[in-house]
Amino acid sequence: MRIVVAGGDGFCGWPTALYLSKQGHEVTIIDNLSRRKWDNELHSNSVTPIAPLEDRVNKWKEITGKEIKTYIGDLNHYDFLREVFRQVKPEAFVHFAEQRSAPYSMIDREHAVFTQQNNVIGNLNVLYAIKELAPECHLIKLGTMGEYGTPNIDIEEGYIEIEHKGRKDVLPYPKQPGSFYHLSKVHDSHNIMFACKIWGIRATDLNQGVVYGLHTEETKLDPMLVNRIDYDGVFGTALNRFLIQAATGHELTVYGTGGQTRAFLNIEDTVRCVEIAAENPADRGEFRVFNQFTEYFSVQDLADKVSKVAEKEGLQAEIAHLENPRVEAEDHYYHAVNTKLRDLGLEPHLLTDDVLRDILQAVLAHKDRVIQENILPSTTWK
Ligand SMILES: NC(=O)c1ccc[n+]([C@@H]2O[C@H](COP(=O)([O-])OP(=O)(O)OC[C@H]3O[C@@H](n4cnc5c(N)ncnc54)[C@H](O)[C@@H]3O)[C@@H](O)[C@H]2O)c1
Repeated sequence: MRIVVAGGDGFCGWPTALYLSKQGHEVTIIDNLSRRKWDNELHSNSVTPIAPLEDRVNKWKEITGKEIKTYIGDLNHYDFLREVFRQVKPEAFVHFAEQRSAPYSMIDREHAVFTQQNNVIGNLNVLYAIKELAPECHLIKLGTMGEYGTPNIDIEEGYIEIEHKGRKDVLPYPKQPGSFYHLSKVHDSHNIMFACKIWGIRATDLNQGVVYGLHTEETKLDPMLVNRIDYDGVFGTALNRFLIQAATGHELTVYGTGGQTRAFLNIEDTVRCVEIAAENPADRGEFRVFNQFTEYFSVQDLADKVSKVAEKEGLQAEIAHLENPRVEAEDHYYHAVNTKLRDLGLEPHLLTDDVLRDILQAVLAHKDRVIQENILPSTTWK
């Protein structure tokens, strides 16, 4: 299949591009390299050193003989996007290319406006490009479980049957996102659903949980193929941040009581879920939603797990509770359905002590790159 991976220089996109290329697909990456610029803006970095994109794809070709084409440009620039569609004629478009940090979107007005503009307009351009140039192309869009928030009832996969005043309908599941970033994803979902209805576009919204991990079979092949691992208070997700804190002798900083429960998955399952979606495309006009996660944990659960593994490795890993910089429930019900990807063949990699130990070892090998001042949260929701 001819597959575009937009955002293919990022944490999820890079291993997905390699995996799909290994499976024999003709992969093209689009990326404007903005993730690298945000690191510069925040004076931050990935714990693992990330080579320039050109060097990464050249190394992949040298090792495997497989070519990954790259187009450096912005989804917000429609002329650029249209040209890529003309040249590639994609059968599937995997869309990772968004600003994905909730804290980044909450820094100030400029960052909130930038996030919604970058994400919503970029996605709208993708929808128009599909309509105009590749109407059969299957859009595989990365959404997030954070779109749903934490309702006091079970979270369904995209839709819920509601009975109201004696009548029934199947309606989009209510969304209660917790940041301007998460809101951008909800706006995207609405735009995609509408485009499917009016233009007959085929789309799968992958409502992904928080992704942890570092390596996949492909990124392990050479140090130049290594994936990024973010740990700072803005882009680092809880589990990766705790592992880096454990590796550098820092307390594991749980926000508030730590009762916040979220859905998680391993990066190795992210790449497989995208493949499953690509191999089983939505029908024309269908807006399909899959909840893409394998397990859920509270923040306190994660800190306890990391602390236990770190101590076995001879590291000090005390747990500290910080005042929560976010506005969110810390004690709540959480139960979400995730059967659709499993029914199509996903075999989850679960969060075992061995998995945690592997990531910890990789982090320890690069711990001199960690910038300590960046670990604690610098953005508040208020
Ligand atoms: N990482 C997670 O835990 C997680 C969880 C749920 C959903 N997601 C979603 O998955 C996607 C990928 O996340 P990630 O962690 O790989 O993020 P990332 O920041 O590492 O990668 C995103 C990539 O997209 C590129 N990009 C951003 N805006 C662009 C634009 N306008 N034009 C072209 N390229 C652009 C960036 O340069 C970057 O390389 C995002 O949409 C994110 O919302 C991620």
